[in-house]
Amino acid sequence: MKIYAHRGCSGTYPENTIAAFKAAASLPIDGVEFDVHMTKDGELVVIHDESIDRTSNGRGFIKDMTLKELQTFDYGAWFSTEFKEEKVPTLSEVLDVFKGTHHHINIELKSDVFPYEGMEQKVIEILKQYRLEDRVVISSFNHEMIQQVKKLAPHIETAILFMEVMVDPQEYAEKVGADALHAFFPTALRKMGKEIIASGKQLRVFTVNEEAYAEVLQAVGVHAIFTDYPEKVYNYLNK
Ligand code: G3P
Ligand code: CA
Repeated sequence: MKIYAHRGCSGTYPENTIAAFKAAASLPIDGVEFDVHMTKDGELVVIHDESIDRTSNGRGFIKDMTLKELQTFDYGAWFSTEFKEEKVPTLSEVLDVFKGTHHHINIELKSDVFPYEGMEQKVIEILKQYRLEDRVVISSFNHEMIQQVKKLAPHIETAILFMEVMVDPQEYAEKVGADALHAFFPTALRKMGKEIIASGKQLRVFTVNEEAYAEVLQAVGVHAIFTDYPEKVYNYLNK
């Protein structure tokens, strides 16, 4: 079972910062996951929430601020003063960390609240520039966006994110154009989880921070997990 660092090493570093990504890049794990939003001036930034309130010393929505404005705030001190120099990274800055590593890269498009018109095309263009199209999976809770990514770039791996126990989600994934399914942890243990695995599609599960749960998921044949503590989980599963 593969291990992905969720928002970088977000259990031990401030989530979605270069510090969290450099820590993930130094680990012998399989991949990394992070979240992308779009600024007022159309730049792609890596951060989880729609607003910067929780993870910075500023306030406001990303869609209402330019990249320059967003870069005036501190995105590390909320976690620990040790990280007070952290800035909000652009998508390119995060790809710079991973372009020379072996890690698979999961880019989550956070367009389920605000639509971020044209975001799919911008992400695809950056991936082309970096020649990383074959090392990424693009996921989203906004399945319309996943459908559009598949239309624009059929060769790029896509995944639907979902929270519920669903009936035949692998058939739904086919309809959307999703290659993989990224499921909320408890739902992966229902009948649905077994059916997805039997269909041959990749089943990746979020967010698994307890070693014992990781072991259970490994036993049922889940392909990968996202965890805030990749080093701890890796050491446990490889002991
Ligand atoms: O991509 C898996 C997981 O990150 C989805 O949920 O809220 O942590 O972005 P969230
Ligand atoms: Ca995410």
